[in-house]
Amino acid sequence: MSSIFYKHPKLYNAMLRILHGKKLIERYKFLASEIGKEQIVFELACGSCLFYNYIDPSCEYIGWDLNQIFIDQAKKDGLNVNLQDIFNYDEYPDNDVVVIIDVLHHIVPRHEAFLKEVISKSKKVIVIEPFKSVNLLDILLLKKGPVRIFMKILNRFFGDNDGINHPDSFFEWKYTEEDLVSFFKKIKPVKITKSGKDLIAVF
Ligand SMILES: C[S@@+](CC[C@H](N)C(=O)[O-])C[C@H]1O[C@@H](n2cnc3c(N)ncnc32)[C@H](O)[C@@H]1O
Repeated sequence: MSSIFYKHPKLYNAMLRILHGKKLIERYKFLASEIGKEQIVFELACGSCLFYNYIDPSCEYIGWDLNQIFIDQAKKDGLNVNLQDIFNYDEYPDNDVVVIIDVLHHIVPRHEAFLKEVISKSKKVIVIEPFKSVNLLDILLLKKGPVRIFMKILNRFFGDNDGINHPDSFFEWKYTEEDLVSFFKKIKPVKITKSGKDLIAVF
């Protein structure tokens, strides 16, 4: 069972806007400029497809996700999306650029093998992931004992529980900014850019 945000695309988008503030649009615009025009954009684990609204209209967009509610809504909105598992590498459509936004922390511990496999199959890959920093939420997430138990329960119903992966996977995402830079650097990116509490890596 997923948290409430993964049941309602509009609520999910509102949560993203509150969580990221102005940085949300900034990162989408950065991504869109990295992609450019007339490209086939393949978004893995596209969620509510919010990013679609920022790509150049000359681009073609394909999205995959396993959330039936998100996919149904995106289809109603006329988007080319499919209920597909992102680990189904052999079924990937032809594309010019793969986009992976806020996904790796959902698929711990398979995130590294996944990213390497996607890069090996793609012309260009852009990844955005959050890192841990010194704020109340991250401090609480890293606490042990009763606080941790309380945070895990809260997360299941009102947090980052997508209903597909283990509900506590976000608690296993322990990368600080330096750790995440090192993680990306091991896989040899073309560039790494910081945006708020996220890193954007281009491969
Ligand atoms: C934090 S959301 C990110 C959604 C979107 N990329 C965004 O930026 O808003 C993580 C998404 O990963 C999807 N997901 C998790 N594991 C998946 C899998 N194995 N195959 C397809 N989608 C998956 C979830 O359904 C959820 O929509």
